[in-house]
Amino acid sequence: MYQKPYLVEYPKIGNTMQGYISVSEKDNLPFEVKRVYWTYYTPENISRGGHAHHRLEQVLIAVAGKIIVETEMPGGIKDRFILESPNVGLFMPIYCWHTMQYTHNAVQICIANMAYEESDYIRDYSEFKLLK
Ligand code: TYD
Repeated sequence: MYQKPYLVEYPKIGNTMQGYISVSEKDNLPFEVKRVYWTYYTPENISRGGHAHHRLEQVLIAVAGKIIVETEMPGGIKDRFILESPNVGLFMPIYCWHTMQYTHNAVQICIANMAYEESDYIRDYSEFKLLK
């Protein structure tokens, strides 16, 4: 069976006087990092994503602003996650169809287990729906 998407809470080191550091490293990351990318200045009326992946696993973090992530796994189980804490990430497994909406100030960082490969994408929803 497929893994499900889930929220990961990262350590929040610091205090309100000095500010905070959060860390994602070997102990709290379910894969070896091969790529980090970030998304920003997304207009509020735009939905990004709209795809799943054959091999890509990633963790999404809203390091600023708020991101609403809607997911669907093969078989039809849907979830909705709100990312608005810089110390909380969303693990997205393989074959997780997802769309994302951002507040105007949102900055999303993605930590991924593989390099960018267009052939890894499933961008056709009807193709995704054929997955069992
Ligand atoms: P895409 O993954 O579809 O963006 P989103 O899921 O945020 O809607 O990628 C958008 C474009 O950026 C697409 O043309 C591929 C390109 N891209 C790269 O070249 N390298 C990358 O690491 C990523 C994530 C995207």
